[in-house]
Amino acid sequence: MPSLNDIRSTFLGYFEKQGHQVVPSSPLVPRNDPTLMFTNSGMVQFKNLFTGVETRDYKRATTAQKCVRAGGKHNDLDNVGYTARHHTFFEMMGNFSFGDYFKKEAIPFAWELVTRELDIPAERLLVTIYHTDDEAAEIWKKTGVPDDRIIRIDTTDNFWMMGPTGPCGPCTEIFFDHGDKYWGGPPGSPEEDGDRFVEIWNLVFMQNEQFEDGSMRALDMQSIDTGMGIERVAALLQGTNDNYSTDLIRALIEASADATSSDPDGPGKTHHRVIADHLRSTSFLIADGVMPSNDGRGYVLRRIMRRAMRHAHMLGAKDPVMHRLVPALVRQMGQAYPELVRAQPLIEETLKLEETRFKQTLDRGLKLLDDELVGLGEGAKLPGQAAFKLYDTYGFPLDLTQDALRERGREVDTGGFDEAMAEQKAKARAAWSGSGEAADLAIWFEIADANGATDFLGYDTETAEGQMLALVKDGAEVEALEAGESGWVVMNQTPFYGESGGQVGDSGWMRRLEDEHDLAEVTDTQKMGGGKVFAHQVTIKQGRFAKGEAVALEVDHARRGKIRANHSATHLLHEALRRALGDHVAQRGSLNAPERLRFDFSHAKALTPEEISRVEREVNAFIRQNSAVNTRIMTPDDARALGAQALFGEKYGDEVRVVSMGTEAGSGKGGDGQTYSIELCGGTHVAQTGDIGTFALTSETASAAGVRRIEALTGEAAMAELRGRDKALGEIEGLLKAHGAEAVSRVGALLDERRKLENEVAQLRRDLAMAGGAGQGGGAEAREVGGVSFVAQVLSGVSGKDLPPLIDEHKARLGSGAVLLIADTGGKVAVAAGVTEDLTGSHSAVDLVKAAVEALGGKGGGGRPDMAQGGAKDASEADAAIKAAEAVLVG
Ligand code: ALA
Repeated sequence: MPSLNDIRSTFLGYFEKQGHQVVPSSPLVPRNDPTLMFTNSGMVQFKNLFTGVETRDYKRATTAQKCVRAGGKHNDLDNVGYTARHHTFFEMMGNFSFGDYFKKEAIPFAWELVTRELDIPAERLLVTIYHTDDEAAEIWKKTGVPDDRIIRIDTTDNFWMMGPTGPCGPCTEIFFDHGDKYWGGPPGSPEEDGDRFVEIWNLVFMQNEQFEDGSMRALDMQSIDTGMGIERVAALLQGTNDNYSTDLIRALIEASADATSSDPDGPGKTHHRVIADHLRSTSFLIADGVMPSNDGRGYVLRRIMRRAMRHAHMLGAKDPVMHRLVPALVRQMGQAYPELVRAQPLIEETLKLEETRFKQTLDRGLKLLDDELVGLGEGAKLPGQAAFKLYDTYGFPLDLTQDALRERGREVDTGGFDEAMAEQKAKARAAWSGSGEAADLAIWFEIADANGATDFLGYDTETAEGQMLALVKDGAEVEALEAGESGWVVMNQTPFYGESGGQVGDSGWMRRLEDEHDLAEVTDTQKMGGGKVFAHQVTIKQGRFAKGEAVALEVDHARRGKIRANHSATHLLHEALRRALGDHVAQRGSLNAPERLRFDFSHAKALTPEEISRVEREVNAFIRQNSAVNTRIMTPDDARALGAQALFGEKYGDEVRVVSMGTEAGSGKGGDGQTYSIELCGGTHVAQTGDIGTFALTSETASAAGVRRIEALTGEAAMAELRGRDKALGEIEGLLKAHGAEAVSRVGALLDERRKLENEVAQLRRDLAMAGGAGQGGGAEAREVGGVSFVAQVLSGVSGKDLPPLIDEHKARLGSGAVLLIADTGGKVAVAAGVTEDLTGSHSAVDLVKAAVEALGGKGGGGRPDMAQGGAKDASEADAAIKAAEAVLVG
């Protein structure tokens, strides 16, 4: 009996032999289809190849594609667990031709694979075709299927469309007859919904494209898209018609039974089936970057998780169960999908966290539900208000409440639920519109309210398609932006990082899918409406960008790469500072721009050159270590327990993103003992620390009281900085004709020499002044003024600080007397006066200076009675100043 893994290999191997490229499954979050919530069939990743928008170097491909159908149009969630073939997660195997082969080859391929490779008896197969497709009927007949087993279907069941728009075409389906022990009739019959005839393979002849207005065109080339649900085929090959009895899913059911110590086939059978299915979808979604949240994809994930958790709860599980089942899933599917192995710790942590938190309200919610039911009449619906309270207070998604009621044969008044939800939104709106925020901010809340949060894809990708949900120009919504215009565009999903946490917003480009020459430049990205929506600031270069359209988004990769490097380096810097200076170091602000990084932190004094060099060395050592940078989601408390650095005073949500990097030899800190830096952070980071390249600290200054600021560079910019420093040093060495350490001691010697020479020059100037030498106004002859020996002199070429020693010298020569010196220092005038000790009882130097300064058009002056100084601007009134001093002496 072939296992599910064998069947997958057989399928891919067969088409590989037929010249098909085996292409890996694309992620569950579609990169190239903004209208799809999750990848729901094999052709999603090839959509643009069918329409001819994109070409690749192969024309035939085969895949086993992971698919999720939950939320949105194809929503199987409600039935999962209760039926034999509904799943939220399943694998679709397919073969594809892009303008290469068509019906004539596709049909025999399928027949050969089914009847020869998989050995399914031909007599138990029948096929359907689109009623007008005579060509397909003819080919089936030639391939060996008798007429009476070819059924014409005239409904859309046999005309396949991926959605309201996109490539489409008639299809043919292969059905397997499980035999008359099951009730049901062949396709097209009134009993077709029974379990007897099961569709196993759909072959779509892609030949049309459907447009929004309902019109359809013939595609230039004819292509093939097929889809075979691997679980169904595994079921029939393993002699069952219940997908949940196949080897792979059965192994998960048994793991669930083990973990809850219950019988896999007992009364809890449905619970195990729900758990097994939901374990697959949740684990694969987390591995593809979806995190539980209250919006969009994250909310669908949360709904699935909580539904599974309620079923685990019903099995009597006291502690979280789901995360304990992940190893069983990885054993089953890890080889075919290595992303599961890589993400295993993240999947386990995320499941455990969600279950731990949900358990806290689950019991109380279920009790409330019971209480509400007590008073309800037979068959009455649960009031919408009660369902809303369960949602709002206890975290019960609506479908979880519906699921809980299903067992009791009751429904929810969904209209009432919607009303209660609308009412709450209206209240929230009233609260924010009254909060006095700028009018142009209110618009972002309106947009957020109408469209929900933007899904950020940028942790995993820098290119994706997005749908333009709103365009804003000059603070108002507009229908479109034309070439030459600038404005803001809100997308349903985006790889562009919105400025936050010190990291600047991304820039890049946006192209219309209809015409790739239509280009808009994205100059910035900001989170608006309370951080819910990402607004892209754009300038339209060519074309018209209209609301509702899909565009291809491309982040400026080189710029983002530099931002990443700077952001990761900031984390290493933060930790290096803590190690060098102490645990009081805490982040006070940061900037992670492409061209540089800036980090403000609490520390009272300037760093010493030794501290700076230690920090720089340590950051570079962890860069060279080139260890992986890991991100995980956890509660803020768990993160802190791990030793994560959080921003003081910052409000964190229920869940935080934790970024760790660097491995320490020997004892580390926190729970995992080895990690160097652990921080709460929503930013984008390098994959390996080595991607930072080099780190160069460029300045260390005071930013505010008790806060220091470091600026630094990484990568190419750091290298350029270091090269610049090196070049300057080279030039210095050239001038000094000395190298390295010798150049340094030469500069030291030059500075010493210069200081000596300056002192000598000053002394010479003073000597010259005393001697009344060249350039010095008037001789320093003493005159009798008011009975006092008085020397007054106007000097040039000396500075203010030369005056006091000159005053002293004059006083020494006079023995008894007063001195006034006026030095014109070019643009400024220094005035000084001195009175010998014996005269300070009757005369004060302060009075002399004040009088002189005033005469010079200045103000003030001060000092002691024996020595005072002052200043003025203009020396032209020097004579008047001397006269004024004389007048003071005369008294
Ligand atoms: N795309 C086709 C399907 O999903 C094959 O059924």
